[in-house]
Amino acid sequence: PKKLRICEAVSSSDMGTNVKVQGWVRSVRHQKQNLFLHVNDGSSLQSLQVVASSQLNHRLLTFGSAVEVSGLLVKSPSRRQEVELQANQIHVVGECNPVDFPFKVKERHDLEYIRQFPHLRCRTNTFSSLLRIRSEATTAIQLYFRDKGYVQVHTPVITSNDCEGAGELFQVEPAFQEKQEEDGGQPFFSVPAYLVVSGQLHLEVIAGAFPGVFSFGPTFRAENSQSRRHLAEFFMVEAEISFTQSLEDLMKVMEEMFRSTTEHLLAQCPEDVALFHKHVTPGHNDNVDLMMKSSFNVITYTEAIDILNRSSQKFAFETDWGCDLQTEHEKYLVKHCGNIPLFVTDYPYTLKPFYARDNLDKPLHTVAAVDLLVPGVGELCGGTLREERLDLLKTRLALAGLDETYRWYLDLRRFGSVPHGGFGMGFERYLQCVLGVDNIRDVIPFPRYSHSCLL
Ligand code: 4AD
Ligand code: MG
Repeated sequence: PKKLRICEAVSSSDMGTNVKVQGWVRSVRHQKQNLFLHVNDGSSLQSLQVVASSQLNHRLLTFGSAVEVSGLLVKSPSRRQEVELQANQIHVVGECNPVDFPFKVKERHDLEYIRQFPHLRCRTNTFSSLLRIRSEATTAIQLYFRDKGYVQVHTPVITSNDCEGAGELFQVEPAFQEKQEEDGGQPFFSVPAYLVVSGQLHLEVIAGAFPGVFSFGPTFRAENSQSRRHLAEFFMVEAEISFTQSLEDLMKVMEEMFRSTTEHLLAQCPEDVALFHKHVTPGHNDNVDLMMKSSFNVITYTEAIDILNRSSQKFAFETDWGCDLQTEHEKYLVKHCGNIPLFVTDYPYTLKPFYARDNLDKPLHTVAAVDLLVPGVGELCGGTLREERLDLLKTRLALAGLDETYRWYLDLRRFGSVPHGGFGMGFERYLQCVLGVDNIRDVIPFPRYSHSCLL
């Protein structure tokens, strides 16, 4: 028999053929004459209906067991599916004790429940859909940048710098002391090394020879946070664009990337996305529609503070020009501006890292920075024009006591420097926004956060 994935078997193109499928049992139903199984292999949300004679020894055919089925693909008499598999052989490859298995047949367990089983949750429809969406969104982002002529760069995971200067670093050292003792207590890399918080500085290096570059990889922050939008390990999409002098250019790329990725997902994974829009956050498709229909709003940080100060809502954190925007503020601003994505530009100089470009021409001391805030999540992207003026950068680094550490960075401004800028988008937050998932731990296969590093 011809071996098929289940997504191929359910599309009626092989009707009348002898086929073999492999997968996991999603339901078992007994009737007098017949035994009905639904088998899923993760290739799509759909399961294949398998019909077998009830004579068959079905004691081991339980929910969750792994099976291999051979038989004839025929037109299904039921209107619920086009095809079914008339089994002539069913082999139970891996048994599954339904009493101990944490998921129960026909039950839709909520995300919080399945999160307790990170090693098993991919066996549920919801998480299986999430994983396909994640994979497809990765492809969509890469396609977007490729089509625009960007080069993908593999930035390092281990680095000796703290790009964001926020001190949220995980230090990297060998687990075994002996090696260090042999080296007279020297750190492994001779300098302190950390897991990367952002690939930006490495992208800036490469952008010194390319029109546009991007990276997509894990980044790490030792944020002692139990929030619904922070992880200690998350994936970030970062882009760096050479010869750009305006925040508008950056905003255009952020908005286009968001739209083209979302369009791609809606077109390529309609069933998987619909599962979230129906069962996880019912009606979320309307929110996504609205985001896709409207062009994103733009306000300055100063306008944002004005809006917050005038609001009748009580916030846990008070607002004042110069304060950092908290999640509650970000969510309020997005709502206030019509529940569509909102760019906030020109943040106070003191709120952004050393590399942000000083807005010398503006009355208040701000930098050319832009955050993209989205409904339900708050900050999705953060970007800046980078300070390319050597003297300004030198002063800023000297003030922070970083001039020695960033000598190489100053070189970038010395040798064929161009105005440039870029941004980073939290991939998990993007998925939260489009799927309507409240907790970031439910959109990543293996979440890491303070006090939790399972598996
Ligand atoms: O705003 P951030 O800190 O910006 C940077 O790191 C820049 N160096 C990026 C650049 O210009 N190349 O982080 C970018 C985005 C945030 O907007 C947020 O979506 C996400 O990364 N992010 C997190 N996502 C999950 N968990 C965390 N702890 C996150 N911290 C930031
Ligand atoms: Mg930020």
